[in-house]
Amino acid sequence: MDLDGLSQASSTRGPAPGGRAPLVLVVDDSRAIRDFMKNHLASAGYAVVSAGNGKEALAVMSERRVDMVISDIHMPVMDGKAFRAKLLEIPEFAPIPFVAMSTDDSLENARSMRELRAAAFLTKPFKADQMIILVESILDYRDLLERTLQEMEGLEKRMLLSSIMSLAHALDARDHYTSSHSENVAHTAVKIVSHMGHDAALVEMANTAGRLHDIGKVGIPDNVLQKPGRLTVEEFEVIKTHPGIGAMILKPIPSLAEVADIIHCHHEHFDGSGYPRGLAGGDIPFLARVLALADVFDALTSDRPYRSGMDLEKALGIMKDGRGSHFCPQCLDAFLDTV
Ligand SMILES: [Fe+2]
Repeated sequence: MDLDGLSQASSTRGPAPGGRAPLVLVVDDSRAIRDFMKNHLASAGYAVVSAGNGKEALAVMSERRVDMVISDIHMPVMDGKAFRAKLLEIPEFAPIPFVAMSTDDSLENARSMRELRAAAFLTKPFKADQMIILVESILDYRDLLERTLQEMEGLEKRMLLSSIMSLAHALDARDHYTSSHSENVAHTAVKIVSHMGHDAALVEMANTAGRLHDIGKVGIPDNVLQKPGRLTVEEFEVIKTHPGIGAMILKPIPSLAEVADIIHCHHEHFDGSGYPRGLAGGDIPFLARVLALADVFDALTSDRPYRSGMDLEKALGIMKDGRGSHFCPQCLDAFLDTV
């Protein structure tokens, strides 16, 4: 394995995703060819690592995140075809662009590499410029494809979120006593998570989970959901199904699968006495522990048809009593800092 050949020169092309120079793996049993390719790729701004056969190349790839492979076909130990076939078996490696090279420019040879989904075929000997242009084109195409996929995922997520938010608003309209509840819970959850120093992605997830936490109430009958007085034991059993219904609604949407898990747990208690599964401590997702606080705080302090909201001091006293039993101690401390 020729790892000492790793080289990186002043770049003439943009960095790979993540801000680094794209890493090209050159696989050939001839040191002279490896050196020729490494020097020219490095001059064009690529990082390069090399190997003498397919087996060595697999070892390199298990340690380095390679952006592209250029491999000879005829090599000892493991030839280019066996190497390529192995890469196609490994989900992490199969999508990495693979260029085959050989002195054998027969149609049969080129076709067999095409069948192994090689992106291109370089006939040896080739000019350095020809190789650089090929590498640039393939990596540009890969970058374009990745950007397009990311944009599509973002669009899909925004469209799904707006549909689900509409559903949440429909729920709020039906249960008019708690019409601002979801927004209040989201607001408090965002404050707690931000105060604890978490990144923007987690803060955004806290907002989404807060707004959707009671989405499962769409599956609760009106006579139970809108009952003004105390619920019977049977009615409460019906209410207890709403976290599971919410998770079931959101789980099939890949971008909301994590939010679904959080919502499933927003009525769990830190000591395991909550519902629906009686999870405890760290088994309850962090954002679900935050939502539990935000949910109870809004329920205590907001006006209901059968009672007025509690004053802040009394509500905070009740919440402090739940430290370590109902509520996660660290989350409660962070919450108390924010009010
Ligand atoms: Fe709830």
